[in-house]
Amino acid sequence: MTQLNPWIGKSISIAPMLKVTTPHYLKLLSILSKHIQLYSEMTIARSIIENTHVPCFALEPVQNTVALQLAGNNPSELHKAVSIANRQPSYNEYNLNVGCPSKRAGAGLFGVALMEHPQTVALCLRAMKDATHRKVSLKCRLGINVDDNGQSLRKLIDAVLKLNACDTLILHSRIAITKFKPKDNWTIPPLNYETTFKIKQEYPELPVIINGGISSLQQAQNYIHKVDGIMIGRAFENQPALVSLVDKTLHPQIHSTINIPDAVSQYLKYAEHVISSQPHTHPHGLFLPLMHLFHNQKNARSWRIAVGNALKKQNSSLQDSLNEIKKALEERKHLPLSLSENFSHAKREHQHPSPVTTPPDSLKPSTPAKP
Ligand SMILES: Cc1cc2nc3c(=O)[nH]c(=O)nc-3n(C[C@H](O)[C@H](O)[C@H](O)COP(=O)(O)O)c2cc1C
Repeated sequence: MTQLNPWIGKSISIAPMLKVTTPHYLKLLSILSKHIQLYSEMTIARSIIENTHVPCFALEPVQNTVALQLAGNNPSELHKAVSIANRQPSYNEYNLNVGCPSKRAGAGLFGVALMEHPQTVALCLRAMKDATHRKVSLKCRLGINVDDNGQSLRKLIDAVLKLNACDTLILHSRIAITKFKPKDNWTIPPLNYETTFKIKQEYPELPVIINGGISSLQQAQNYIHKVDGIMIGRAFENQPALVSLVDKTLHPQIHSTINIPDAVSQYLKYAEHVISSQPHTHPHGLFLPLMHLFHNQKNARSWRIAVGNALKKQNSSLQDSLNEIKKALEERKHLPLSLSENFSHAKREHQHPSPVTTPPDSLKPSTPAKP
């Protein structure tokens, strides 16, 4: 008997990551997979209104669905930002970031600080929904500072659902601890997938996407039947070639996996187009997405060195950087590639803790958890 594909009707997305999920990076991912749901890096709503920053795909729209992630706490600003972004056909979803643990977010009362203000979050999401027919989603943590088994999260969800203000909930499945730096907040608070699964059970009508510490699609397969989608951040950042497995995972009958050198060739064509239409583009932003494409492959280091050299070219032209990468690509076009799902994080900066449910002593909540 053939087994049913557990991924039918489910989604796989790249997590929004500041200074990582830039339009150029998303372009590369769109070459690797037509079905991965893309999320922009966090964009402050006011910067869209003031026109200081709009991540856009006007140059060469991607075929994939793209969510624009917004940060803010003012419903009328968020409404305005969504109305402006609506002029672009690229977005299918607007997401509100209620998970950012940075000091700046805390001081400005946006990001994870908003978890303590469910009514404000509900009004913000409602204002975003009133500005668009596209999907509106919320990305947040399981709680803030205290592991209360999702009690405060439930209050937030109830407030949001009461206003019919959210189409999808994305749960970074750990609490945030405001005294920690963002980097520590992505790793130290223990993952707690069980609370995410419980939330999905309790709110069956609300699509729930699980995020946090998922390091492969194989691992994701163990959870997909309990949620509506999987969001992966650092594992895809560290080994973007894994994104090429997404289409085959979601639609095994239709798709095969794109060859990585072919994907690089397609990206370099895009880069040529960028260079001719936007000659002041910085090489770093344009070529950094290629850096880890050959991670865990033979000669990965020499590829990284070639891309690194291309990024550093201060006084030479973008075209020189492009030529350097083209040369490095030629040298490895015929090398066999083996895409393994079981990759090691050991040498990379961001490390994933294994999911644990009991916090270490240093993280024991200072306030007694509610029953
Ligand atoms: C470099 C970096 C930048 C991030 N920037 C954002 C952001 O802009 N918006 C957001 O909601 N989360 C941001 N995050 C959190 C990720 O979206 C994600 O929730 C987190 O990394 C956990 O998923 P992972 O274990 O699959 O990486 C960032 C994480 C990293 C590592």
